[in-house]
Amino acid sequence: MTGWLDGQRALVVGGGSGIGRAVVDAFRAEGARVAVLERDLGKCALLADELPDAPVVAGDATRPADNRAAVARAVEAFGGLDVLVSCVGIFDFYRGLGDLAEDEIDDAFDEIFSVNVKSHLHSVKAALPELRKSRGSVILTESTSAYYPGRGGVLYVASKHAVRGLVTALAHELAPDVRVNAVAPGGTMNTDLRGAGALGLGDRRLNDTPGREAELAGRVPLGIAMSGADHAWSYVFLASRRARGITGDVTHSDGGIRIK
Ligand SMILES: NC(=O)c1ccc[n+]([C@@H]2O[C@H](COP(=O)([O-])OP(=O)(O)OC[C@H]3O[C@@H](n4cnc5c(N)ncnc54)[C@H](O)[C@@H]3O)[C@@H](O)[C@H]2O)c1
Repeated sequence: MTGWLDGQRALVVGGGSGIGRAVVDAFRAEGARVAVLERDLGKCALLADELPDAPVVAGDATRPADNRAAVARAVEAFGGLDVLVSCVGIFDFYRGLGDLAEDEIDDAFDEIFSVNVKSHLHSVKAALPELRKSRGSVILTESTSAYYPGRGGVLYVASKHAVRGLVTALAHELAPDVRVNAVAPGGTMNTDLRGAGALGLGDRRLNDTPGREAELAGRVPLGIAMSGADHAWSYVFLASRRARGITGDVTHSDGGIRIK
């Protein structure tokens, strides 16, 4: 049987849990070889245990050197790179401007924009020489917060709108060599998404919100609480050669929230 990603070589940034881990599993199921850059050491150990053939680099995607190390490791193992996926992100637990103390704003902005936006610049920059060689593709992770208010606070929503800008600008700049697209997941079950440390939310998990499953299903027309595995097939499609004519675009894996 042939897979949608047979022969492809991928790096998933933030592949240790949640949507990123589901992408790792779906890519492998479709025939890709997958390396991971992940900053949580416990998740790196688990990946190494569960997927002993997958190169795992422990590092921080906001740092250029860590991205370069992950790309080098993938190229060493696979001989090149066809796909870069980034699923890193942190949340702000719906903090509006009125909820932020004046002296919290600088550090919270720097942390959230560093992880949710700047890391993508460093990941793409590090992978670009290899992606140009393979005429490969990049898939970033947006959110319904990249389109609407209310599903995050001011900093999260602004950071996800900025990811849309990266997709548009990079798709324009990197054509015709490299396609750049995004998946915009809706609220998702069973992930480890945490808050920003600068807001004292580093240990708080969005998934622990009481009644989350019913709330997620209740907010979308399709009436389902989606998981990372539901979104992962959108990444598979965008990474596949079947999407060779698609760039600068986004797949809304969100239960239909836009038609509500
Ligand atoms: N959970 C949701 O409801 C939801 C909804 C829409 C969009 N998203 C977005 O999906 C993406 C994945 O989120 P998730 O819910 O799967 O959360 P998650 O925390 O399970 O996954 C993110 C992974 O990235 C890692 N990571 C974070 N910062 C990193 C860094 N600087 N360097 C390397 N690794 C880093 C984390 O350790 C984690 O393994 C994020 O961009 C998030 O904003 C999530």
